[in-house]
Formats: sequence, C-alpha cells, structure tokens
Amino acid sequence: MTVEIKDAVYLDGQPVQIISGAVHYFRVVPAYWRDRLEKLKALGCNAVETYIPWNFHEPEKGVFRFEGGRDVERFVQLAQELGLSVILRPSPYICAEWEFGGLPAWLLREDGIRLRTSDPAYLGHVEDYYRVLLPRLAPLQADRGGPVVMMQVENEYGSYGNDKEYLRFLRDLMRREGITVPLVTSDGPVRECLDGGTVEGAFATVNFGSKPEEHFINLEKLCNQGLPMCMEFWLGWFDHWGGEHVVRDPVDAAADLDKLLSLGSASLYMFHGGTNFGFMNGSNYGDHLTPDVTSYDYDALVAEDGRITEKYRLCQKVIAKYRPIPEVRLTTPIRRQAYGRLAVREKAGLFENLDKLSTSVPGVSPRSMERLGQSYGYILYRTMLKTAGRMERLRLWQANDRAQVFLDGLPVATLYDRELLEEKAVGLPFDCGAALDILVENMGRVNFGPMLECQRKGIDKGVTVNGRWQQHWMQYPLSLDDIGAVDFSRGYRPGLPAFYRFVFRPDVLGDTFLDFDGWGKGCAFVNGTNIGRFWETGPQKRLYIPAPLLREGENEIILFETEGKAGAWITLTDCPDVG
Ligand code: GLA
Repeated sequence: MTVEIKDAVYLDGQPVQIISGAVHYFRVVPAYWRDRLEKLKALGCNAVETYIPWNFHEPEKGVFRFEGGRDVERFVQLAQELGLSVILRPSPYICAEWEFGGLPAWLLREDGIRLRTSDPAYLGHVEDYYRVLLPRLAPLQADRGGPVVMMQVENEYGSYGNDKEYLRFLRDLMRREGITVPLVTSDGPVRECLDGGTVEGAFATVNFGSKPEEHFINLEKLCNQGLPMCMEFWLGWFDHWGGEHVVRDPVDAAADLDKLLSLGSASLYMFHGGTNFGFMNGSNYGDHLTPDVTSYDYDALVAEDGRITEKYRLCQKVIAKYRPIPEVRLTTPIRRQAYGRLAVREKAGLFENLDKLSTSVPGVSPRSMERLGQSYGYILYRTMLKTAGRMERLRLWQANDRAQVFLDGLPVATLYDRELLEEKAVGLPFDCGAALDILVENMGRVNFGPMLECQRKGIDKGVTVNGRWQQHWMQYPLSLDDIGAVDFSRGYRPGLPAFYRFVFRPDVLGDTFLDFDGWGKGCAFVNGTNIGRFWETGPQKRLYIPAPLLREGENEIILFETEGKAGAWITLTDCPDVG
C-alpha cells in the first residue's frame, strides 16, 4: 500500500480521514493488548497510535529488549490483524508522563551530555539505538505490506528547544535505516512551538484539546501545508500525587471531537491510558516537582482496567457521523474480582535486609544512582560519624527527589524536592560511631521542559554536617528488581522502612484493585512484579492488578513502605478508584 500526505492522508491514492486512538503497549499487560485494540476498532477508529519508549527497550547501554510486554512488533501485527493502521512515535524522546520522557537514565552517567540536541555524545547513543530499533520497524511499514502509515520525528520539540540540526539528524537517520512512510512532527499549535519543532521533509501536526478551527488555521498559515491533523487530541488528562483527580466532561469532549473531525484527521490521546507499572511514572516540574500517579487512567475513553466509559459511547456516536462503526466481537474474557481483606503475614525491616537487596559500593563522597549504574528505585547512603557531637545542621548537596534521614536508626527528617536545596536544622546529639543513614527515592524523572537536564537521582555531590563534608560512605542501590530476595526472618522494627508480605489463594482469577488505605508511602509487588507506587496523599487510592499477574494457587503481595506507616491489612476490591 502506498502512503502519501498532501491535503489529507492518501492510502493507495485514496484520501482517508485518520481517526486514531492512543494505546501505549508499555502500559498494558500483553494479554490485554488485543482487548484494548478490539475496543478501539469497535469505537470506529481506523488506526492506533503508540509511542516507543527508549528506556523500555534499551534498559542498559547496548542491552536491547523486545520480548513479552516489550514486543512492539507483536503489538503492531495485532493491530494489523484487526485491520487497523498504525502510527508510530519512536521519537526518541516521548514525554508521555513516562520516566524521563523515555530517555534511558544511563545517559546521565556521562558528564556534560546535552539531551535532545545535536551534542555528538547524545546523538551517538540515539544512533546506536535506532540502528537496532528501526530495522525491526521497517518491515511493518504500509509500503512493505505492514500497517504502519506514518512515523514521528521527536516529540513537541518546539516546546523544548530549537536545534534544527538535531531534528535533521533524526530525520536523516530514520530515512537511512529504512523508514519510507511519511514522517511527521507534532507540536503545540502556536508559532514559537511550530518554529522550533518542525523540520523540512516531515509534515507538521499539532496537539490540542479544544478549538480545532483556530489551531488548524494556525497550522496552515504557519507551516504553509494543507494536512489538518491533530496528533494528540486531549480528551482527558493525567493526575499527579498531591493534586486533584482530573476529569474532562464527556459531553464537552465529544462536542470538540465532532468539530475536529469535521475539519481533519485526529488521534485521540488517550483512547486508553493504562498503568505506570514499576517505577516508570514521569514527573512535571513547574516551580516544584509533581510526580505522576501510578494509574494512567487519563479519564480516557477506555478506563485503566479496560472498562468502556460514557465518554467512549458519546465519542462513538460522533465518529459514526464520519465512518461506519463495525461490529466487533470482544474475544478476551475479563472479569473483576474482590478477594477481600488480607492480613499482614510477615514483615521485615529494610535496614535488616540491605545486604540481601543490594551490593554496597564504598565512596569518599556519595554519588548519584546513575553514576553507580542504577536507574530506578531507592538508594541508601550510610556513614559513621567520626566524633561525638551534636548535629545542628545537615545539608544534602545536589540531591533528588526525596530523602529520609535516620540517625542511629531513628527517623530525623524527610526532605522533599526544594527542601533539599536548603540546610536543615536538626539539633540532635550523637555518639562517636553513630550511623547516619539517608534513604533517597527517585520519584520518577521529569519528562517535560528544561528540568530534563537536572535529573540525576540520589545524592550527587555530598553531605555536610554542621557545615563540614562528611566523608566515607557505603552506598546501597535499591532498584528492588528482585523482591524475592527479602528475608522475612531478619527482624522488624516499627516506624521504619519495611517490607510486608501477604498471601491469598484466588478461586477465580480476575482483575482486582489494591486498596492501600492506612498505609503511608511505597510500592507494591504482585508475584514479584512491581505494580507501582502508592502514597496516602492521593488522589489515587487503589492500585490496579490485572488478572494476568495472578495465578492459581498461592499468590504473594509484598508492600515496601518507607514512612513506618503500616496498616494491619490491605483490601483487594473489585471496585476501581474512579467510576
Ligand atoms: C504532550 C505530549 C504527550 C503528553 C501530553 C499530556 O502533548 O506530547 O506526550 O505528555 O502532552 O498528556
């Protein structure tokens, strides 16, 4: 099939209005990919759009992963089996409320690297990755019999910078590695974004949530091109910890969709949001850090657990004006299940388990997790104070994001985000040889804006006690990627970071929701899989556990809780957070 872009998208010479929806395969368990795509088709869409996050596929430099939930080719083929076209946005930066906007944390091992620019150090890594990724995607293009009809160069680059050399490099690299379908960019619909973000040889598209007429007029005027396409039509929005749950009125969203479809092509962002499993949520940074919650429900058309919403039904009615709505049989059986209250079965302290979970690295001064080869999770820094005295003032230099300080095993202070920029008055006596422990959490690297350049986590410079550098530390990277290593016989002290183990035997397997009421802050593991963070501050109050993570017989849930705030139980309910 040939693909051309002129005043519209032409497939085999015929103009086609693209009505696409975003589904991020990396936020959905693969057993549910087909279900989400069937629901997309049933909505009336003729295409699916997904980003491809670099840090998901190259977790370590030179280590490429495309198996299981990372099998993007399978996801694309599944879409093709359902008769959907595919829009791919490998970028290499994706924003998307995803950790570091998809950039691998190991890029930060090097000093001086300038991300998202034509800095040769950065481009070298992009090229190494694209040389592996793009040859996998090339056979999936429409002109080679696949479903992929367009690919994106960078992502909203005009909101970040204006290094055209970088955009040209990406465009040329894509062409060199066999990408033959039309290339696109996507940007905010205003001059400053379009000027910085567009590049010759790629069609400009725009992103917005309302006023399509105005934005398409701008696009035509500013870019002198005729394709009116909204690459991200925001029908919902994301939540961050400590904020309100954001909703968009379904009637309003559907009305704007109608206006938009009367004018051009669109991709609905998000059709289905999914979940930031593990430590993969991103953060925003306006004047302070706002890390995104675990759920990426997004108030989308299909909810986090696959439920069809009222917004879906209203948008389907709108789409029916533009395309026939096909009959689609949903082939994946999905049910919700309540398993009730689970009492804590076993508990064990973090400090008691350090050697089980980490190999310590000595250092004269603390260094960031990236420099120690760690990307995600927590890191504990431990030192022995060398003389008896009083800790009047404590300061962490170049630290991110949240640090809990313990003196001789007792909590002293918690410093979060901007509090880490200041010296903390403490006023506590200590003995010679007392242990100073600092547990630092990476709460999800910023995925948008200039703070992208300041994302080393842990402590990168050092710690001063009463204005003097404290030297000689043991550093314990805690990526928690092998939670099975926790030894529950090691002892437990209340009020400190600890692991809590629960077991249950389901009679039927179903999607369920972990209610963490009564618990402070941490992350949860289901049969060894990290299902994301919890935090009593909300707005999220329950974590989604898709049935494919459960098994017959005994199932295990482990909570890692850092505040010393533990409940006696957790509840597995069949009722999600929202709706
Ligand atoms: C922009 C980005 C997306 C996403 C949305 C907000 O449009 O391109 O990746 O971050 O904002 O959800």
